[in-house]
Amino acid sequence: MNNRIEAELPDSQGRRTRIRHYLWGLVLSWSLLLAGLLSWDFISIQSNTEELALKEARANFNKDQAFRHWAAGHGGVYVPTTESTPPNPHLAHIPERDIRTPSGKALTLMNPAYIVRQFNEEYAEWFGVQGHITSTRVLRPGNEPDPWERLALESFERGEKEVVAFSEIGGEPYLRLMQPMITKKRCLKCHGFQGYQVGDVRGGVSVSVPLAAYQEQRKRTMLRDGLSFGVVWLLGSVGMLVAGRRLERDEMQRREAERLLRRANEDLDQYAQVASHQLQEPLRLIASYTQLLRQRYQHRLGQDADDYIRYAVGGTVRMQQLIEDLLHYSRLGSEPPRLLPTDSRLVADQVRDGLEGEIGEKGAEVELGPMPIVPIESQHLAILIRHLLENALKFHAEQPPKIRIECRREKDAFHFTVTDNGIGIDPAHHQRIFKLFGQLRREEEFPGTGIGLAHCKKLVELYGGRIWLESSLGAGAVFHFTLPTVVA
Ligand code: HEC
Repeated sequence: MNNRIEAELPDSQGRRTRIRHYLWGLVLSWSLLLAGLLSWDFISIQSNTEELALKEARANFNKDQAFRHWAAGHGGVYVPTTESTPPNPHLAHIPERDIRTPSGKALTLMNPAYIVRQFNEEYAEWFGVQGHITSTRVLRPGNEPDPWERLALESFERGEKEVVAFSEIGGEPYLRLMQPMITKKRCLKCHGFQGYQVGDVRGGVSVSVPLAAYQEQRKRTMLRDGLSFGVVWLLGSVGMLVAGRRLERDEMQRREAERLLRRANEDLDQYAQVASHQLQEPLRLIASYTQLLRQRYQHRLGQDADDYIRYAVGGTVRMQQLIEDLLHYSRLGSEPPRLLPTDSRLVADQVRDGLEGEIGEKGAEVELGPMPIVPIESQHLAILIRHLLENALKFHAEQPPKIRIECRREKDAFHFTVTDNGIGIDPAHHQRIFKLFGQLRREEEFPGTGIGLAHCKKLVELYGGRIWLESSLGAGAVFHFTLPTVVA
């Protein structure tokens, strides 16, 4: 079944792949969007981690420095001399390194670097990140810089204010931060003998924040974000694919239905045309022979026969008219209408002239209101106006017909009205009269084929317009129809 349809509709395959391409394009854009967002997220996680580590480094560094400067400000601090705090041999040159209280207790001077070192040794856990004080010319062996610190110290000599780097210490990742320590007046008490002057770079302090914990945290955040993004991506993609499949299926079904409908319509039109043509031939025969009968035998076969012949002739004439109208009706719409600018006043005038005989006969008055240029083929407009005018002339009341035709431009349509003072139509029948052969059964009184209004409806709808009627019995009728200003 499927194969047959596709074989008949070469472009249906094309349509399907077009939808599929579109769909994959959509999924691809979605993936790119999420990938972009995710990398942006990763980048900001990375820089957040670095910022946090840097903050920790600064906090520790500042706390240490505050303490060092406090101690330096006091020219060192005296503490009781004990085994764990022996006099500092590097202060041997200071006159009052070791003193006694009046009661004889021994005190020794601690310099800032010494104090901080003791803190670090005794309270390592509480102290947290350790600073390292160093210099290119150390007073105390053991304070020597490592290679990274040495480079930093050299750059301080050149005026650098801070060095920050991510590097490794013993194979572990660290964030390192180092700032110079500039010689102040208060430093000279202990460092003056080395030849330092105020303003010289005495050395520097570095802090190293271990990054392993930060990296662990970053990895977890990235994993979590990656997973969330993955789920969103998957849901979105699956949703799009499912929706796309459904769309594709609906589209195929719609096209198949359209195709069947088009074929059915074509069949019907063809059938109507063939049937009409085929009917016309024998009908012509009957018509000519009944007319022949009338010519030859009128007044010779008696009144009854004359009547029968008259009925037969009348019937064939009506039938011919009917077939002709049907043919017109079925041909309508086989081609899309052309939206030519048509002067509706000109067309209405011509139609009115064409019906001059009937108008005169009935003493009718046909008045034209505003009639603009409208987008419709002129012969189509002529058919519309003629049918509605004939209709109005046909269903007149006692008084002579007064008919007004006009057209007003509305927001998105031209609105025609044909108003008459005829017998009117019961609202119960307003729908029916636009159907094929929907004419109310009063043929003897009002002859016609019953196709006119159906023809009008088909025509108006072909242009995307609407036709309707306002009327009640005995109160005249107003036929309305619209033509869109732009056809979709
Ligand atoms: C009370 C004496 C004293 C004062 C004041 C003092 N220092 Fe020191 N400083 C020392 C001693 C002693 C050492 C070496 C021994 C040690 O590490 O304990 C040292 C070590 C240092 C070091 C480490 C490198 C090295 O030479 O071993 C630097 C850098 C330093 N001091 C800078 C300063 C600065 C800058 C000031 C002023 C803000 C200052 N010090 C004030 C006594 C002092």
